[in-house]
This record gives sequence, C-alpha cells and structure tokens, in this order.
Amino acid sequence: MCGIVGYVGPNNTLEILIAGLKRLEYRGYDSAGIAIIDDANTLHSEKRAGKLVNLVTALEQHPLPAGSTGIAHTRWATHGGPTDTNAHPHYGDYGKLALIHNGIIENFAELKEELLARGHTFSSETDTEVAAVLLGDEFAACHDLPTALRNVVKRLEGAFTILAVHQDQPGVVVGARRNSPLVIGVGEGENFLASDVAAFVAHTRHALAIGQDQVVVITDTSIEVTDFDGNTVEPVEFDVPWDAKAAEKGGWSSFMAKEISEQPDAIANTLRGRIKDGRVMLGELGTIDDEYLAGINRIIVVACGTASYASQVAKYAIERWTRIPVEVELSHEFRYRDPVLTPETLVVAVSQSGETMDTLMAIHYALENGTKVLAVCNTQGATIARESHGVIYTHAGPEVAVASTKAFVAQVAALYLLGLHLAAVRGSLPDDEIAKTLTELQAMPEKVTEVLASTESIPQLAHWMADTRSVLFLGRHVGYPVALEGALKLKELAYIHAEGFAAGELKHGPIALIEPGQPVFVIVPSPRNPQNLHAKVVSNIQEIRARGARVLAIAEIGDTAVLPFADEVIPIPLAPTLLQPLLAVVPLQVFAMELSQAKGLDVDQPRNLAKSVTVE
Ligand code: F6R
Repeated sequence: MCGIVGYVGPNNTLEILIAGLKRLEYRGYDSAGIAIIDDANTLHSEKRAGKLVNLVTALEQHPLPAGSTGIAHTRWATHGGPTDTNAHPHYGDYGKLALIHNGIIENFAELKEELLARGHTFSSETDTEVAAVLLGDEFAACHDLPTALRNVVKRLEGAFTILAVHQDQPGVVVGARRNSPLVIGVGEGENFLASDVAAFVAHTRHALAIGQDQVVVITDTSIEVTDFDGNTVEPVEFDVPWDAKAAEKGGWSSFMAKEISEQPDAIANTLRGRIKDGRVMLGELGTIDDEYLAGINRIIVVACGTASYASQVAKYAIERWTRIPVEVELSHEFRYRDPVLTPETLVVAVSQSGETMDTLMAIHYALENGTKVLAVCNTQGATIARESHGVIYTHAGPEVAVASTKAFVAQVAALYLLGLHLAAVRGSLPDDEIAKTLTELQAMPEKVTEVLASTESIPQLAHWMADTRSVLFLGRHVGYPVALEGALKLKELAYIHAEGFAAGELKHGPIALIEPGQPVFVIVPSPRNPQNLHAKVVSNIQEIRARGARVLAIAEIGDTAVLPFADEVIPIPLAPTLLQPLLAVVPLQVFAMELSQAKGLDVDQPRNLAKSVTVE
C-alpha cells in the first residue's frame, strides 16, 4: 500500500526514481509524485492524481533536473481523495523539504491543531502533510535532517514509513519505519531506500532490512541506521534471490497472465531442496524445532484474502495428516476476539507480501501472549518473516499483479510441507504414506502445466459472459475454499458480484439465488474420492440445473458422470483429493483474467486495490 523509493548517487535520479515507481506501482495507483534536489541545491517536485503515466506525461512536458538526491511515491489513498493536492510529496520548511509516507498517522488531527496554532496552513486533507510541516519546523530548529526526523517520529502514532529530503542538506535521504515496510538497497557509490526490493533490484541485489522503530540515513557512500533515540543498530543483510527480469512482463500481455503461467515453477521451487528420502527438510524453522512441534495441540492460521483461502485448503490436509485441530482465522478478526492461546498453540501467519498489517498485528498479539509464530511468506526479509520465530519461504518469485495467483499454489505447497513434516515428527502418518504424498506433490507442477495447456475454451466463455452480473461458485471439502478463491478473483478483477458456497450449504439458503441462466462454476471432486463426495456434488449440480442454472464444471478428465449435467466442462488431470485445489484453482484464475480483459479492464491493477495492504 503506497510505494516509496529514495535514491542518492551519481546516476540520473529522475530516471531511477521513475523506474522504481514503475516497479512499485502495484502497491497503489491513485496518484504519484517525485521530489529531486538539483546540483544547485534547489528542491524540485511534481505530482499528479491518477496512475503513474499521468506523472510521467507531466514530466515529459515540464522535465525536472536529473539531480543526485530524490524521493518518489505512488499512492493508495487513505486520508483525502486521489487528487493532485493530496498526492505526495508534501512540503515543509516553506517548500525546502519534501516528505513521502506510507501508512496512517493516527494522531494527525491533534498534531495539526498544534501546527495551526503555530500559524501554519495546510493545502491537503492528508495526515502526511502534518508530518511534513512538523519535520520542517524541527529542521528549522536543529538544521540536521536525521535529528529532526527522530524528533518527529517519536511523536507520531500509527503505522508509517517516511522518507524525506531537504535542500539545505543535499546528498542525504532520511527514512523511518514503524509497522510499515522499508528496505535499503546497497549499491556502489549509490544507495537506495524503498518499500520493496523490486524498486532497486535492477541496480543491486544486496539489501539491508530495517527493523521496527528505526531511522535510516543514506548518502551515496554511507548508510547509518539508528533507533528513534539515535542509538546505532545493525541492519540485517540479505541478497534478493531473483533478478530484475523476474519482475518484468517478459512478453506477456499482463503480469497476471505471466504469473498464472509461472505456477508450475512456483510449486516446484517451493518444494525444491525440501524433500529428501521421503521426508520433509525445513531449514528455517528457528526455535520451532521437532521437540516443540511434538508437543503442540492446536494450530491457528492467520491470513487474509487469498492467503486465507490457501490456508483453508491446507486445514483439510494438516488435520487429516496430523490429527491436530487447525483453525483458519482472518488476521483482522483474530486479536480482537480475545482468542484462547496456550504455549501448545502454534500460530502460523501466511502472507505473500510479508507486510500485511492485519497479519502483522495478529502476530504481535500472538507474540505478546507467549505463543510461537511460524511465517509462510513469499518475500525475503519481509517484516512478517523477521518477526516470527521461524519461516517457510514460498519460492514463487515476485508477484506483481495485484490479484494473487501463483502465491496461492505456493502457499498450499508450503503448508502441505509443514503438514507432512508435522506428521513425521508426531508419527501420525506412516512413513511410506508421507513419502507417497510427497511424490504426488512433486508431480503437481507437471499437472498444473497440463491444466494451463487445456484452458483454450475459457477466453470464449469469458467473452460470452462479459455482460454477466453475477456468478456463483460451488465446492465441497477442499473444493470449497477453491470456490471462495474463484469468487474473490472474479470480484476483484471483473467487478462482478461473485459468491463462493459450500455445495452442501446450497439448500440451506443460497439456492434461492438460482434463476434461469445463472452461471455457476462447480468444482467437482474426483469420482475416485473414497468419501463419495463426487456423487454428492453431482446431486447438487442436478438441484441447480433443475432451477435453470448454467453449470460450468471443473472436473477430472474422464469424469463422464458429470457430462450430462454440465453446460461446459473444464477438464483437469487426475490427482488425489487433497491435491486437487492446486489444479482446480487455475481455470478460475484464467476465467477471471479473461473476463476482466473482455470487459476492457486493467487486469494487473484493479480499481480501489493495492498489492500490499499495510494499513489496518
Ligand atoms: C487477492 C489478494 C489479497 C491478498 C491479501 C493478503 O487476490 O491478493 O486478498 O491475498 O491481501 O495479502 P498477503 O498474502 O500479502 O498477506
């Protein structure tokens, strides 16, 4: 939520910052802005409402100097609508200082009162401008930007990443963070600050993670990190495990199309190096060792959105394999309901970005209550990974499209590894069954490739359905969270009312929604399912068909029983029930993407959304 980038160095600052914003635009695209200090030590700035292209066009008409110090921002609006005036940067010290911000300053109203009383005026409706004006006053008093920033951030409440520059201290970018992401890119004779490594990975893959409540000061040749009181701290070093190419479209029509196609690799890379001799090897569990895992009696998974649906899929598998009760809870509900936590409860936090504020706050709650936390995270060095006792990284590579796709399958794969590891530690599943399931899991990338190759009917289907106002999704057992995920994808990408239901729940109410022509996707379990879920879902299909529904079935190749009752069948390869979600989700992602395109919408940047939700 909001992308932030800062640069000091000898290269063209304007170009570097705009390229950085392009890579961060998925974090917010309501407005964008830039501030640069030129070689004569004058601050220049430009900002525009709307997508980054509006700023780029404005800069083409009125270019800024290339400069050697600067900051830039792409916004997801919180306080104040997406206008030119509310766009960042905001200014202090009579236009000599520029500041950008990600997060929410909760006590901004009271600080604004104080500044108004001092005679300041404000042009925007943002909380950010308050921080800029306050920083301007502090700088005027002490003439040192790092000191001024430390004084300011101590007074701020809420969540924030702040970057600032001042023309009287050129060659310096200062930053601070609390509960909001900020990383340092370490270059040679140049340094970067950004919300996300994507902004600078084209220049350096060597990075430093900044901890909670810390201030960073970069020049072209130095990096200094302190706490808010000015005590030096050592940032944690890491290398970005992918290069700039991985975060480019590479010939695909959209990042989403590319990321959907990368799903076989996302699963394979998440499994790679973690399976040996029929056992799971997880190297980064920290203090969540076998002894501790042997003693847990409950797992609570906290996650939001797509990550929570991946977790719901995994609940079925982990409970079946380990007999440990697993609850999946939306992170933002977790800490407000006074959950019962004991030392035997393991909290698992699942997050692609590793920065989702709701999930981070759920982790803090668990830690404060003495509970161990294991992160499942896709972003190296992210806050959620660092603040947890252990981490299982999903190796899906950078996910740039705002709607999550490859992260879902990678999260399911990672959680399955956790489940099978637990089963081995606790002896809840025979070794040969663990080995067999791992082999089946390793076969999934190839099967996902087969699904991707057999989605040719979907663009036509989406085209026919471009005017549809409502689509329902039904699933049973592990197909139920897949139905929820299919509905979420359609809502966010095609702005169509979409709902996912447990197929068995239909007759308890939702069947009233069925009227002639109502499209319903149904995830059909395998006919080989030992619990005979297949027959039950086929009955559900007949119930909705009898009321005129148009049935679009996702069913196993060779499932002839479903053919007479479906208007369209999208075939998926044979797989064990618990692994079927890795296949069944793919056509639903493709359908949502195609329908979005058929409606002429922006697949990668759907309205009102941002990739990394860093506000509560
Ligand atoms: C949906 C989507 C969101 C995220 C959710 C959690 O397509 O992208 O629902 O899944 O905001 O994000 P992470 O996984 O980064 O915590």
